[in-house]
Amino acid sequence: MRVLVAGSGGREHALVWKIAQSPLVEAVYAAPGSDGMREATCLPDVKAGDSEGLIRIARAEAVDLVVIGPEDPLADGVADRLRAAGLAVFGPSAAAAQLEGSKYFARAFMSRHGVPSPGFWRFAELAAAIAHVREMAGPCVVKADGLAAGKGVAVCDGPDEAEAALREMMGDRRFGAAGDEVLIEERLIGEEASYYAISDGTHVVTLAPAQDHKRALDGDRGENTGGMGAYAPASIVSEAVEKRVLEEIVHPTIRGMREEGMPFSGVLYVGLMISPDGVPSVVEFNVRFGDPETQALVLQMDGDLVPLLDGAARGTLEAAAVPSVNAAAVCVVLASGGYPRGYETGKRISGIEAAEADPDVVIFHSGTKREGPGFVTSGGRVLGVTARGPDVATARSRAYAAADRVGFDNVHRRRDIADRALARPSS
Ligand code: AMP
Ligand code: GLY
Repeated sequence: MRVLVAGSGGREHALVWKIAQSPLVEAVYAAPGSDGMREATCLPDVKAGDSEGLIRIARAEAVDLVVIGPEDPLADGVADRLRAAGLAVFGPSAAAAQLEGSKYFARAFMSRHGVPSPGFWRFAELAAAIAHVREMAGPCVVKADGLAAGKGVAVCDGPDEAEAALREMMGDRRFGAAGDEVLIEERLIGEEASYYAISDGTHVVTLAPAQDHKRALDGDRGENTGGMGAYAPASIVSEAVEKRVLEEIVHPTIRGMREEGMPFSGVLYVGLMISPDGVPSVVEFNVRFGDPETQALVLQMDGDLVPLLDGAARGTLEAAAVPSVNAAAVCVVLASGGYPRGYETGKRISGIEAAEADPDVVIFHSGTKREGPGFVTSGGRVLGVTARGPDVATARSRAYAAADRVGFDNVHRRRDIADRALARPSS
């Protein structure tokens, strides 16, 4: 098979790396790809959202499967246009991508189908939204309705914080049009995990549960980011919790989307909150793989991912074998100091080769650029230093040992990735 991956981040690098290992695959292309993606032929002039460019490459290179990495092209209908051109595509239609593209659509869908989720209210006017958080008088969550690169969410302890967030989103338009409408939600309590269900619209194959670390600083302090590190499997998702997630969330969602005429094919990413007594509810849906969870998942998974991607794209997932797993993996993100707000780029990166000398370590590139003999930083999240191991503890120490060999000016990393897993007896 010949596979084209659309996107350029750490998640797409992880997908390219995994796809390139499949015995079914003879060539991997990435559009635009990145300088760090040594496993693919990159086409830097074609952006992930450029349907015509993707179709042109797919035809010229006789591509059998196109995998769309990021959410924006999916929300824009790139998968629909590629399918209309006769290509096999991994990724949902624009209609199905609303599960991520509009937080209101997702919450309304969840309530129509009885999927466990918090109460929510939608506002288009600042004054009414402020009045509502004042009336709630306690903790709440304020969300920009549209796509904001995972950053348009403020988890608030009380009305003053909520009002400040609303003013920033609706008044100052920090997230542009994405914040013209906001959602105010009840604040869920518990521990978060990410769960991945690959579907062809009918059948479902699930991957190992993972846990992301979304806040910028240790101890889950600081601002929400795209994700500062991840590990899999996440033992907080016990067998009993997983059963409930499947029965109460994944299957009703896949069935509901089909019944509403928007069959979901691709990967449904369920952001879960698991209450202290083990009851899961949905924090958010995404319609693509997680970043950086995917970096951990591809190292944790021993078997082949390609039959699942291809099966979902062609509606033949039922026949695909569930991949075997490799025990555990941990990804530590190295970010530019200042992220998720302002940061500098162009810093020379040292130590990548030394870190990758460990055969259980792979470094995925999120925001780097080749310059002269090596790489310089070019984004907020720069590298995902990822290691596998027989258990989370071993994978974690390998990942940190490798991450500590890599350096650049003003590098920031969390020191507590996967700590919660180690504190739980079962891992
Ligand atoms: P989202 O972009 O919707 O995933 O939100 C980002 C983060 O905000 C989530 O990972 C949670 O940590 C937090 N969050 C979002 N919604 C809620 C909620 N209703 N209750 C508690 N935390 C939430
Ligand atoms: N890791 C969070 C996300 O991919 O949205």
